[in-house]
Amino acid sequence: MRMPQIGLGTWQLTGCEAQVAIPAAVNCGYRLIDTAAAYGNETAIKKAILLSGAVREDLIITNKLWNTKRKYDDAIVACKQSLKRTGLDYFDLYLVHWPASPALYENWIEINAECWRAMESLQHDGLVVDIGVCNFLPYHLDKLMETASVVPVVNQFELHPGFYNADAIRYCRERNIAVQAWSPLGEGSLLLNKVLTLLSLKYNKTTAQICLRWCMQHDAVPLPKSANPEHIRQNIEVFDFKLLDDDMTAIDAMPFSGGAGFDPDTITIFQ
Ligand code: A2P
Repeated sequence: MRMPQIGLGTWQLTGCEAQVAIPAAVNCGYRLIDTAAAYGNETAIKKAILLSGAVREDLIITNKLWNTKRKYDDAIVACKQSLKRTGLDYFDLYLVHWPASPALYENWIEINAECWRAMESLQHDGLVVDIGVCNFLPYHLDKLMETASVVPVVNQFELHPGFYNADAIRYCRERNIAVQAWSPLGEGSLLLNKVLTLLSLKYNKTTAQICLRWCMQHDAVPLPKSANPEHIRQNIEVFDFKLLDDDMTAIDAMPFSGGAGFDPDTITIFQ
């Protein structure tokens, strides 16, 4: 699929914020807009996309299927409802938001397989161009692939300094599954971190830009969320420098220093 190297996250963007953030993002070069039914702001996203004046074909719009809609028929209806609320004919990328995990479901393999059949059918019918997953650990993907006809093009998971999911990145790279990073700034909590601050002085970049560049140099597409046009502009100015190997290694080794820190295997709040 066509995949920009950075996108705008829209979790927690309220109606008014989205209508400022999305036009600002499009104006400074973003083309990938990451949304989800669970964010509860699809109607605002619709208005914001219209306000941005962007040509639809130039945008890559992602949406996600929520956990209560994993049954085949429910998934089809949920996608159609999301399209309607967002005012679109198709999503460029449609993702399963969270895997069903064995900690909660004895029949997790069947649940994920049925859900993926619905995703394949949505793609076949042209409602979505590409399909993928979020928050799938390698073993979830291994099981999914036993019955899947289509390989997920994307796995989107939490990735930021202090939360370096090297195994999942390697697994995806080996299978040509693109990685997208949610909360690449650790929900904003990494921006005063000491290691990152020293690097920001060294490279004359902000700590946010250091985090984003670190994701990109691990071949992940960061999806920073921001409601602030100045932050949005700053977050895409990450193509004019490169972190040296030693600095990448120093960030790789950072202990958990903020962010959600979710383990998809044990998380229960979203199931
Ligand atoms: P704001 O909306 O005021 O920009 P993450 O994407 O890791 O979840 O982080 C999102 C948080 O980081 C938001 O609180 C957002 O606040 C903040 N943020 C995003 N970009 C920047 C930036 N360049 N500088 C400072 N804070 C930022």
